Amino acid sequence: IYSSDKLLTKSYFESYALEVYKEMLLLYCEKARQYVNSQCADLEPWQIIAATLLLTVGAVRAKAFLFQQESLTSRIKKQAFRLIRKIPFIGSSIQKKLNKALDDMSVSVCTLKEGMSYTKLLPAQGLTQKQVLDSIRQYQTLNEVQWTKGKVSGAVYWGDEKLTELLVKVYGEFAWSNPLHPDIFPGVRKMEAEVVRMACTLFNGGPESCGTVTSGGTESILMACKAYRDMAYERGIKHPEIIAPISVHAAFDKAAHYFGMKLIHIPLEKKTMKVDVKAMKRAISKNTAMLVCSAPQFPHGIVDPIVEVGKLAERYNIPFHVDACLGGFLIVFMEKAGFKLEPFDFRVKGVTSISADTHKYGYAPKGSSVVLYSDKKYRHYQFFVAPDWQGGIYASPSMAGSRPGGIIAACWATMMHMGENGYVDATRKVVQTTRTIAAGIHICVTMRHTMPGVAEHFINDVKEGVAVIMKNPKEKTTGMGAIYGMAQTIPDRSLVTEISCGFLDCLYSTEVPKVQKNHHTSKRNHMNGSSKTH
Ligand SMILES: *Cc1c(COP(=O)(O)O)cnc(C)c1O
Ligand SMILES: *[C@@H]1O[C@H](CO)[C@@H](O)[C@H](O)[C@H]1NC(C)=O
Repeated sequence: IYSSDKLLTKSYFESYALEVYKEMLLLYCEKARQYVNSQCADLEPWQIIAATLLLTVGAVRAKAFLFQQESLTSRIKKQAFRLIRKIPFIGSSIQKKLNKALDDMSVSVCTLKEGMSYTKLLPAQGLTQKQVLDSIRQYQTLNEVQWTKGKVSGAVYWGDEKLTELLVKVYGEFAWSNPLHPDIFPGVRKMEAEVVRMACTLFNGGPESCGTVTSGGTESILMACKAYRDMAYERGIKHPEIIAPISVHAAFDKAAHYFGMKLIHIPLEKKTMKVDVKAMKRAISKNTAMLVCSAPQFPHGIVDPIVEVGKLAERYNIPFHVDACLGGFLIVFMEKAGFKLEPFDFRVKGVTSISADTHKYGYAPKGSSVVLYSDKKYRHYQFFVAPDWQGGIYASPSMAGSRPGGIIAACWATMMHMGENGYVDATRKVVQTTRTIAAGIHICVTMRHTMPGVAEHFINDVKEGVAVIMKNPKEKTTGMGAIYGMAQTIPDRSLVTEISCGFLDCLYSTEVPKVQKNHHTSKRNHMNGSSKTH
């Protein structure tokens, strides 16, 4: 548009077109009116009212049926498999296989030694201290997996003996403390506040950054999702959605399940195994409550493109959680240990929260983690307050009510004892060992693997194991390995859920399985327990 003359022409044309559209619309409305009236001419008023009522109810029902938490296709699939299991012959054969799998599992999970039995009643006369200590030795003999020798991936991140001694002392000092009562246990309150502050500083949080200590990574993730769900509710979102990479930890599935949210899984880029940021952008809708990335994720150990997703989070004003549960206390020290990384923490604009497990590479004992927020306004949505409880005003920061002060004290003691130099040193060792092992295969490397010879020994074991398999690749797998393999091929995922629930039941079993287990345990010993632990 170059001259005011043409401008005038254009606006004149536009208003003319608008007029034409208006006329046309009116004409169609009139036609529709005449058509509907002619169709209803023979109907009595009650018929029209009844039809309208039925249609409305039908439409509401149809909407409720079509749009549920679980997608239509997933529900149809489930129903189909449910029907298949009702078919006489096929159904019973599936049930037989299922029972066999459950039996196999209870045999390989609930291992007892010859002559051992379960305690099912309180001892009538309490045991003496010596008797108790003797008795736990018996329980220790059940261990077959040699984690102290560095024969498992992940699971125990250090467990150094000297550190254990210190932690036992510290736990003893605080065994009876409970941060639910800060007036009675002010020391634990101070320790928790300090653990959170030290973690905030490590992740480059600003002066408004904050957080809480939780019982583990899962609780940290649950709390962030809960906070963002409540924020979404406040913004009028009825069905809040979590947008996360498909590689994200299952704790997000758990959070979605517990808190009535929908988890939308975003595929990965094939080459890098990082989340596809474009697909993530496309998934954003008016229902989006939060975006998630991992640093790194559990399945492949890859760090997602946090800077790019941070830009999305800023642009659409959506909270953004970085799950650094696994490697948080490793990656914050990598730069000082001499390994360069892209920014992944509160330095990235858009990142509003981070979860990091002190009980993984923080080397603290199990039962501690932190969830951190860039600003106090997010943490408020995590808190729970029952102002009218008959027992008093009840305010608690996370899932639990009473919490183990001893664990918080032990976590604090670990961080203080490690210090920056300790962590940087540990990080250097772990990353170096990882590079050694990565030349052969990639596992979750911990301080246990940095002992001399462990990495080389592991690579040799893998080579030997593969050689054994390759000699007779068609040989039938047994025990948990067989169940795991079979589970991957079952199209009916509800069967997998059923078997897994059986597994959890098994963990609480105090019955000795009917079949004897020697056969299976000897198979497992073959690899000296260096098999999968998760
Ligand atoms: C371990 C882990 C979690 C969950 O932590 P828990 O302490 O097992 O509850 C979450 N995310 C990642 C990436 C993890 O590795
Ligand atoms: C497993 O342990 C046994 C006894 O400790 C040992 O003789 C054997 O060589 C080990 N096997 C492997 C594969 O490490």
